Amino acid sequence: GRGKAQGAKGLRFTPVAPNKDDKVTIPDGYEQNIVVKWGDPILRGAPAFDPENQTAKAQAGQFGYNNDFLSLLPLRGEFGSRERQILVANHEYTDENLMFRGYDPENPTREQVEIAWAAHGLGVVVVEENRRNAGLTAVPRHHLNRRITVTTPMRLTGPAAGSKLLRTSADPTGTKVFGTFANCAGGTTPWGTTLHGEENFNGYFANADHAKSPTDKRYGIQKGASERKWERFDKRFDVAQEPQESHRHGWVVELDPYDPDSTPRKRTALGRFKHEAAQPRLTDDGRPVVYMGDDERFDYLYKFVSSKRMRRGNSRAAREHNLTLLDEGTLYVAKLTGDSPAAEIDGTGKLPNDGEFDGSGTWIPLATGKKSHVPGMTAEEVYVFTRLAGDKVGATKMDRPEDVEPSPRTGRVYVALTNNTDRGKPGKPGADEANPRNLNKHGQILELAERRNDPTATTFAWRLFLVAGDPKDPATYFAGFPKDKVSPISCPDNVAFDAHGNLWISTDGNQLGSHDGLFGVATAGERRGELKQFLTVPRGAETCGPLIQDSRVLVAVQHPGELDGATVEKPLSAWPDGPGRMVRPAVVSVWRKDGRDIGV
Ligand code: FEO
Ligand code: CA
Ligand code: CA
Ligand code: CA
Repeated sequence: GRGKAQGAKGLRFTPVAPNKDDKVTIPDGYEQNIVVKWGDPILRGAPAFDPENQTAKAQAGQFGYNNDFLSLLPLRGEFGSRERQILVANHEYTDENLMFRGYDPENPTREQVEIAWAAHGLGVVVVEENRRNAGLTAVPRHHLNRRITVTTPMRLTGPAAGSKLLRTSADPTGTKVFGTFANCAGGTTPWGTTLHGEENFNGYFANADHAKSPTDKRYGIQKGASERKWERFDKRFDVAQEPQESHRHGWVVELDPYDPDSTPRKRTALGRFKHEAAQPRLTDDGRPVVYMGDDERFDYLYKFVSSKRMRRGNSRAAREHNLTLLDEGTLYVAKLTGDSPAAEIDGTGKLPNDGEFDGSGTWIPLATGKKSHVPGMTAEEVYVFTRLAGDKVGATKMDRPEDVEPSPRTGRVYVALTNNTDRGKPGKPGADEANPRNLNKHGQILELAERRNDPTATTFAWRLFLVAGDPKDPATYFAGFPKDKVSPISCPDNVAFDAHGNLWISTDGNQLGSHDGLFGVATAGERRGELKQFLTVPRGAETCGPLIQDSRVLVAVQHPGELDGATVEKPLSAWPDGPGRMVRPAVVSVWRKDGRDIGV
């Protein structure tokens, strides 16, 4: 009813109740459509989706698998058309069991592997507003549409480019890499490019020797065969044969979606780790500062401060200059200190006596250009083995830093710490004030305020904004908002802001018995902490890439039907095409039936 639809501006909708329905459930009064889904032809000449007869060539011209991060960039000057934008999506990974009938995980065929190579990477597809509502639909064969795959040529740039640590037998220059994969979340820059985090890249490499390479061990590159067995079809995935190819993955990729012929660049100045995302904020004098998380239990939070100023305008010279902004600057890692006595942090999530999990922090510099700040490590080593640099300087071991997003309104930075079920286990670090629960199943969101709101500051204040879980669980916290008035939430992953300054949070791995979903929460005012669920996704899916525009919400429904034992023959979800069809990851847009803006 009307009472429930009240809330902060932008969040006035009736919350969706937790559920396990095999569909995208949205609030009353809203509608949805599918913008684009796995296999839709987007390039000229690409055939219609025919999943039983899929080929690598067809897939390379079609929308990829497992859409995660989404970005929308303006596209102006297309005469006579409805509002058009450029949609950029990450295609994080493939679910072969759900793509290939009779798939044998021990013996993938070359064709299956090459289809998977073509289904990974990035997708660029122009979208336009529907004729009758604010939903979006893909424009196939647009000249800006593009697929980036595991075999697309890319360049390594910045201070570690060309380093002997980045050379392979196929590339003695240490600058030319093929492809990107495991792209999780990302960011959109104010100069009109997109950033893409290479996250679980380690899982694609096989046959590491941990005794010989402690760095491979620290990065989780496995000793035996890889899950997808790509090493059988391209030796660069076999560490025993090509020990440094893995050094060329685990970066942030920058893409210029306005230039379909541009070479994507891997930015070594931003360090190498399991990059979840990368979202810039500009300093007052126009330099980008990029916040980044390393999504691993007990890994770190980072920022990069560029030494160069962005140029305004769309001239060729300005665009070329702006494509160098992320190559020069300083990379930092975060150390957080609580302000309550350690004895008051008992690992249960009980608030300390000062009523808040909060404290101060420092950004510890790791390297500036070719100069290392870490004793015993060269700058090249800092960039390529950034995790080890963080270890050396005593960075704070966090509960899996996922997406990190500065508020465009306030400059405060929000860090999704998704969970950490190893916290407090024997031999593992126990709770601290920023990561206050042992065996942390539900995660938390940290709010960071740079000193004097200067993104280049080397000190900051922080507090936990949300401690996720069932609001009935005393070990939860919603910025002090009454807990009988908020939605349950578990495992925050991606975060985004709307124009009102509300934070939107999507989840991955809900531990409360409901499907994953998307939530909005006010970050300021008297409703700060009032969390409301906007949608839920189908069986087995994760909610990704939320984008909140004035009149629409976009989500990427990733890995629908990904459940134990699911196969093409026995799917456990019928989304989106109905029973008897293969499940298909897809992008969904949601709008209001009455034509008004979201949540007003
Ligand atoms: Fe791909 Fe960290 O989520
Ligand atoms: Ca405190
Ligand atoms: Ca994620
Ligand atoms: Ca995740």
